[in-house]
Amino acid sequence: MRILLPSIVLSLLGSCAVDAQPVQSPDARAVMTEKAMTDAERAVLTYGIMPLPVLGVKIPADAIPGAGYVAGIPRLNVPALKESDASLGVAYIGGIRKDGATALPSGMAMAATWNPALIERAGAMIGGEAHAKGFNVLLAGGINLGREPRNGRTFEYFGEDPLLAGLLGGAAIRGIQSKNVIATVKHFALNDQETARHFLDVRISDAAARESDLLAFQIAIEQGQPGSVMCAYNKVNGAPACASDYLLTRVLKQDWRYPGFVMSDWGAVPGVETVLAGLDQQSGAQLDAKYFLRDALKDKASAEPRYADRLVDMNRRILRSIYAVGLDRFPPVIKTIDFDANALVAEEVEREGIVLLRNRAGALPLAGSARSIAIIGGYADTGVLSGGGSSQVQGQGGATAAVPFGGNMAFAQAFAQSYQAPSPLKAIKSLAPDATIIYRNGNYITDAVLAARKADVAIVFATQWQTEGLDSPDLSLPNGQNALIAAVAEANPNTIVVLETGGPVLMPWLDKTAAVVAAWYPGARGADAIASVLFGKTNPSGRLPMTFPASLDQLPRPQLDGSNTVEPNISGRGNPGQTLRVDYDIEGSDVGYRWFARKDIKPLFPFGYGLSFTTFDYSGLSLTAGKALTASFRVTNSGKRAGAAVPQLYLVSAAGKPVARLAGFSKVSLMPGETRQVQLVIDARIPARWDNGWAIVPGLYGFALGDSAASLGSVQSVRLLAKRWKD
Ligand code: BGC
Repeated sequence: MRILLPSIVLSLLGSCAVDAQPVQSPDARAVMTEKAMTDAERAVLTYGIMPLPVLGVKIPADAIPGAGYVAGIPRLNVPALKESDASLGVAYIGGIRKDGATALPSGMAMAATWNPALIERAGAMIGGEAHAKGFNVLLAGGINLGREPRNGRTFEYFGEDPLLAGLLGGAAIRGIQSKNVIATVKHFALNDQETARHFLDVRISDAAARESDLLAFQIAIEQGQPGSVMCAYNKVNGAPACASDYLLTRVLKQDWRYPGFVMSDWGAVPGVETVLAGLDQQSGAQLDAKYFLRDALKDKASAEPRYADRLVDMNRRILRSIYAVGLDRFPPVIKTIDFDANALVAEEVEREGIVLLRNRAGALPLAGSARSIAIIGGYADTGVLSGGGSSQVQGQGGATAAVPFGGNMAFAQAFAQSYQAPSPLKAIKSLAPDATIIYRNGNYITDAVLAARKADVAIVFATQWQTEGLDSPDLSLPNGQNALIAAVAEANPNTIVVLETGGPVLMPWLDKTAAVVAAWYPGARGADAIASVLFGKTNPSGRLPMTFPASLDQLPRPQLDGSNTVEPNISGRGNPGQTLRVDYDIEGSDVGYRWFARKDIKPLFPFGYGLSFTTFDYSGLSLTAGKALTASFRVTNSGKRAGAAVPQLYLVSAAGKPVARLAGFSKVSLMPGETRQVQLVIDARIPARWDNGWAIVPGLYGFALGDSAASLGSVQSVRLLAKRWKD
């Protein structure tokens, strides 16, 4: 007769066994647990649901409303996976859970800090909040490359360069996982636009993909060792990303030896055969046609050894990540969150992520000299803008203002442009207590112009809202804001524009303005960060993580792919068999600034660009090609204020051929007159090219230092020997 022990006793036995063998690796533990599973238990971890009351699914008692829930196996002390979006903090899911969270500034703002150590702290902050709210998985780690600046999710991602996106995305992941919360790098891969995202078919060569989008993922995975990877909605060279043997098995699991698990994006699983391509877990299964990775997989596994083998591997991978990140040993404990302390982390990110784009004759900092200030537009009396979609975070109490999206498109009701406290008006007032400050909403140009004329300084807050599910049709500021800015700048030469945008925008009024500041989506206390830069309490040190083109004609695709054939639709799955092919071999791996270099065209603002209230000199660049390729140089603060430089090293020629690639960077804080020696180790993949493996062509390689991709110092060359290697 079998004696049934209560599960609590078994789980205690389970944890004793773990404690007795603390040296066991996550891999060994995963194998042990998987071997102890019954067939029924092997079908538990491989699928999850979206535990929301609106989606027609029975919600388990221990689930938290959020993006995902995967049941645990108490008998084996395997915890349930409680998943929340996303990269900017614990998501609000349209207010279904009323608890607020700390919103980080957008991914673009984080990337603009060029400061991995700060972004690791930011990751730890949101990981800590997730843990304190009961979650043990964050679907955070969005690093799709900024190949298409009109992409509606540009704001979530880390820009156009694989090294920058990989290092910063990896740092965020490291931070999140330091709080015993699995992070999820996504959307693997080439999900670089939202138009037709469910039926987009990206065409790109292996080499171009490996040197661009895939390299960003590879670096982020090396740096952050995320427990999971989320495959994307789109197809890549004909195969759905979640059913792509190339992406999931050959590249990720074989070439990169990724030991964690691949979860699907929500509603991205076409069938059970995805398992053979490398998918390990079906997320939000009720959004797919079937619970493929439960019922269908069970049948397949009992009939076909290749499915049975995969089922074992799938379980081991999921368990390995649970153990590696410590989900079983350090389960989430609901506790009070210190929102004030966390908001300071968000503010610090924004202070470092704000990019000063223009500063005519020292118009900034304002430093108390202005006696009257007209603040115009951008809902600056209520808050700062945030991006829409699954990553939307709201502070406690929700949005300070929500502008409905409107229309009758599916989900339109759930989408609104949300503003977050505090307001720039309040933040500016607190730094200029003696100034007369008036606010005009900017709806009428005449009214704004009258206000601007009467003030010493006019500050126009301009917004461009982005959301998951929709791309921007172009790069303009919507709702007549270009005309508003032009008229205000005409009326008052001391016009400062603060941009709250998802990514690059065009600026037809630029020359008329005194100063322009890119504040992205500024997050919690973001308004304080903006005020701090405007009044010089913070010396801006952000640098652009994406090129700002001067016109759409400069882009590889002057017109957004699909914009003339696909109806904008947030949930648009298309008709059966519908496909939108996009040709990413047009630019190949020459994404962003590399395209501009290849075509020899001058953007409005180059990648890496950003001004400071002080000046920096770079000198003494030398390169050494030993076991590793290293660069060393000096950075001096040659101005009168303390500030942080972001020296950037670019590869400008490879074996006689002109190229443009960010090879390394550093963020260096310096007092006036101070000099620091900097050393960079250059990733061998930067001078290499992909040719069925990484390959360095022997010859001279030229490097130059600069403060953007378009302003470089003298070239130093180093001879590299021929080399070939696999990942
Ligand atoms: C998004 C993911 C998100 C998931 C769960 C999907 O629509 O693409 O980024 O994590 O939903 O909310």
